[in-house]
Amino acid sequence: KLYRFRKITGNTKVYGVVGYPLTVTSSPEFFNPLFTQEKVDAVYVPFPADSLNSFLRLAEEIQLEGASVTIPYKEEVIPHLISRSEKVDYIGACNTIVRSPRGWMGYNTDARGFSDSLLKFIGRKNLFGKRVTIIGAGGAARAIAAEVYRLKGGGLILNRTVYRAKDLAQRYGFAWGGLDNHGIGLMDRYSHIIIQTTSVGMMPDVDADPLELYNFSGKEMVMDIIYRPEKTKLLSRAEDAGCSIINGYDMLIQQAKYQYNLFMGADLDNQIIQKLNL
Ligand code: ATR
Repeated sequence: KLYRFRKITGNTKVYGVVGYPLTVTSSPEFFNPLFTQEKVDAVYVPFPADSLNSFLRLAEEIQLEGASVTIPYKEEVIPHLISRSEKVDYIGACNTIVRSPRGWMGYNTDARGFSDSLLKFIGRKNLFGKRVTIIGAGGAARAIAAEVYRLKGGGLILNRTVYRAKDLAQRYGFAWGGLDNHGIGLMDRYSHIIIQTTSVGMMPDVDADPLELYNFSGKEMVMDIIYRPEKTKLLSRAEDAGCSIINGYDMLIQQAKYQYNLFMGADLDNQIIQKLNL
């Protein structure tokens, strides 16, 4: 896909995304057309960086204004921040940095992006009375578990490494288990909504399915935060059983909306995104 820029000059502000290997990233396809549409003199560039320190030096050299931070740097970037939002502190991960005169300010927009997308999907304002199974206990799961708790949902966390599920679950009074028969058995009571947060099933390993031991009844609402492929094996199985499904693309757009607002100090609303026609 080619982007039509209005004009790039010495004054054009530079934003970007840093990660490694950064083979899967859709955020340039969001930000560049958005800058053009909103007549912002800026570009958004991917920075695949195998060292966060050298990226941060480069960012100084080119006076990068702000960046999305992705795998594997969401935790490593935290000591480099001069200020952190509350969410960065309690999730323990930062996915957005913004330049200030004194240094980088850090934020986490994954949490709000997730809940905007989930609530739209299920057509509700909160999770009261809903029981939610979260697959995984990594960085993404930490943001998601915190939101499920904030939205008053009941939770079960299942993870390959059980003690990580337990650590996270205990913060919120949730249940926990492994991805084995015992853990899957616990899902009977927590399967209104299922949220897959690991990288299992992502390209190129499209045949992997972290819930292969679970048989969908067809009543579950299933979200997988992966968006490449568009439909993971888990989502295909769920759909075949009759479940409502959603992938991670909308969550990505929702969290990028909050990033745009942090980058621009602006308030981007959903209408502007709809105009983008993604
Ligand atoms: P992220 O920030 O993307 O969540 P992470 O913090 O490295 O990344 O977490 C990766 C998650 O994917 C973990 O829940 C991990 O399970 P473990 O805690 O057992 O490592 C899960 N994961 C990764 N590869 C997996 C696999 N092959 N099978 C099952 N779970 C896997």
